[in-house]
Amino acid sequence: MSLIVTTAHKPATAVTQLARDIAARLGVPFVPRDRSLAAIKEKYADCDLIVAAANGPVIHTAAGEYFFHLSMAELRIKNLINGKHDHMVNAMGLRAGMSVLDCTLGLATDAIVASFVAGAQGAVTGLESSPAIALITGYGLQQVTVDSDVDITGSLRRIQVENTAYDQYLTTLADNSFDIVYFDPMFRNPLYKSSNVNPIRTLANMNPLTPAAVQQACRVARHKVVVKEAAGSAEFVRLGLLTVLGGKYSRVQYGVIDCRSKMGNGGQPWSV
Ligand SMILES: C[S@@+](CC[C@H](N)C(=O)[O-])C[C@H]1O[C@@H](n2cnc3c(N)ncnc32)[C@H](O)[C@@H]1O
Repeated sequence: MSLIVTTAHKPATAVTQLARDIAARLGVPFVPRDRSLAAIKEKYADCDLIVAAANGPVIHTAAGEYFFHLSMAELRIKNLINGKHDHMVNAMGLRAGMSVLDCTLGLATDAIVASFVAGAQGAVTGLESSPAIALITGYGLQQVTVDSDVDITGSLRRIQVENTAYDQYLTTLADNSFDIVYFDPMFRNPLYKSSNVNPIRTLANMNPLTPAAVQQACRVARHKVVVKEAAGSAEFVRLGLLTVLGGKYSRVQYGVIDCRSKMGNGGQPWSV
């Protein structure tokens, strides 16, 4: 599906400039807002649409709208502060000062939680291959301010976004260059109900995670490679993830490879 960029109704000059900048960055047409949004959608029926507005860009797809928001990140951070477990953080063994490579940034919900735990001494890099998703998420991480007792805004700002595919990017990294390498690919069997990923489904990279990428990740990770999937997914076995963690009643689980000795799979050198 192709993409066009327009503005909200009666845009301020800065909003028009934002729309033009986005169009230029993505290499897609800028369409002036000379009619209703419904009329633009009708005229460009075969396109997804980015609408630049005063509070940031919004993607309109057939499946819904995506604008940057914290989703469950804020609640998960508050739960952590209140001493509750977060299954992703536990699976990663994540602590302050660690570095995380999130290979599938998406809406950055997981990356924000990781960035909060890693703190100012840690680092989170998020890779996203979809230019439109990387743009909206990257914009939000740099521009949105969160009104909270704890410094969630700082956690957003510290995430470094790279619009690139992990498959190639991982091969460019030195051994042991991140503590944790994390994947949350589009699930093979999506949990459609109430999934906050629904609006980006048509824009997202749907390719499955490959054993080769997991192997690269294990080379790059000093501590752990963690893969999120639907609970009970056959992907865990296919990818050679023998340790699977998560809540008893949770709809998702985390496959973990401990890379510290580069010996996974029950003491054998890690391979699938
Ligand atoms: C399920 S979403 C991730 C959600 C994310 N963990 C969060 O908390 O918001 C998967 C994302 O990974 C991206 N993706 C899939 N394959 C990729 C690849 N090879 N390289 C980079 N990004 C990829 C998709 O485009 C999509 O945005």
